Amino acid sequence: MDKTFHIITFGCQMNVGDSDWLARALTARGWRQAPEEGASLFVVNTCSVRDKPEQKVYSELGRLAVHLRARPGIIAAVGGCVAQQIGRGFFDRFPFVRLVFGSDGIAGAPDALDRLAEDPTERIALLDFLSAYPEREDVLKPLAHAPLPAFDADAGEPDAGPAQAFVNIMQGCDNFCAYCIVPYTRGRQKSRQPDAVLSECRQRVEQGAREITLLGQNVNSYGLDPSQKGGGAGVGFADLLRQVAAIPGLLRLRFTTSHPKDIDPQVIRAFGELPNLCPALHLPLQAGSDAVLKRMGRKYDREKYLGIVADLRAARPDLSLTTDLIVGFPGETEADFLETLDMMERVRFESSFSFRYSDRPGVAATRMTPKIDEAEAQARLLRLQSLQNGITKETLKSLEGREAVVLLEARSRKQDEGLTFWRGRDEAGRVVNLRLDKPGSGESGVAGRELAGLMVRARILEAKNHSLVGEKVGQPW
Ligand code: SAH
Ligand code: SF4
Ligand code: F3S
Repeated sequence: MDKTFHIITFGCQMNVGDSDWLARALTARGWRQAPEEGASLFVVNTCSVRDKPEQKVYSELGRLAVHLRARPGIIAAVGGCVAQQIGRGFFDRFPFVRLVFGSDGIAGAPDALDRLAEDPTERIALLDFLSAYPEREDVLKPLAHAPLPAFDADAGEPDAGPAQAFVNIMQGCDNFCAYCIVPYTRGRQKSRQPDAVLSECRQRVEQGAREITLLGQNVNSYGLDPSQKGGGAGVGFADLLRQVAAIPGLLRLRFTTSHPKDIDPQVIRAFGELPNLCPALHLPLQAGSDAVLKRMGRKYDREKYLGIVADLRAARPDLSLTTDLIVGFPGETEADFLETLDMMERVRFESSFSFRYSDRPGVAATRMTPKIDEAEAQARLLRLQSLQNGITKETLKSLEGREAVVLLEARSRKQDEGLTFWRGRDEAGRVVNLRLDKPGSGESGVAGRELAGLMVRARILEAKNHSLVGEKVGQPW
């Protein structure tokens, strides 16, 4: 078969990071990325966190199988959390699936895919959990280009490679929150060696990364693996954060996700001390009622959470806080739910991901009663989202007229009266659609130029429901 592939990714940033690595590993082995219509191999990287994304995987594979009629030789690989959960079951249900791999197995996926390119009739399952963080082959060949020029926020600068990089610092989770399937699909917590983390971060910065996001299901317990099988080598998350932040040329550092029970006062302090640590934190609250938090097994209460928020805001007053919330957890009463709304108003999260509770196979909450009626849970979700939308709007509105530094990501779909818009993110990660010059006006030469990766100073002109519109300020290009 010809070595062309197309990756489809569902789920969290861990999956996005994994797909990114796999694409680079395959490219280094002579595979070529192709659009869906032209690919011989489909890789579907899956999420199992709720029933809906799991079902989406089956419908997606059904949809992809349609290509078999036109191209009978095509094959598929299924990776990520549903692959770990269902495993070889995929071979029976979708015969064109020839590889399943879990989060530890992904390290062996490029070899397995090379074997399948030779013999596409084979079936390979990479589902074992390993006892230490499975270091993956290094696919970041140093680029032969001159060192990056000094950063100048007014003028912007050309980008030498991908400006945003995700770097894994750990795998798995040991928390077993009552609703969550992740500890089963991603295995036990395993911290990556700090040297490996630092050297990948340095390499990414040398290749042009301006922004690094450190990834793990629970980054605040980095280095504290209960098994301690080499995990972390005595370096905690606060230390790691400082070491990464000190890499010359790194302009923005982020991390996700943080469990409130584990956030260290030193990490809170770092928000006030490290200039390149972005003023943004995703701190999943899940529920506002102490009784529900207890049944969820979250190991913090309202008071503790509010204390952390106060400390964070004291360290960094412009910190943008975002969160995850679940409504309709088994046994959630109207009074419990009102406590979630109350927490939302107290903390004033800038935005949140909110979900209706969904039973997952094997997790503790599946056996908890009473289950909340679906219509009731849906009504609570809408009430919560409507409160959030109002708070989001007010927060964004308060930024009108302010200045921000925006890292440009892609040309925006927004086109207005001949103006070109680029989409980027400010320091806190808010989406900013930036008005640039009139295309083809000649005065700037920006039209048609690849701007992704540029950092520009902007003034915020207008707040939309979930994003900002700004204009570039300062020197011409
Ligand atoms: N490791 C991260 C989040 C992992 S899952 C953390 O602990 O914060 C992402 C989000 O999905 C969770 O924060 C939770 O809000 C939601 N989630 C997980 N299991 C769920 C379930 N069974 N039903 C509904 N939402 C769920
Ligand atoms: Fe799931 Fe809880 Fe672990 Fe997050 S901390 S991945 S919600 S078990
Ligand atoms: Fe989903 Fe697995 Fe991430 S269940 S949220 S892809 S860890």
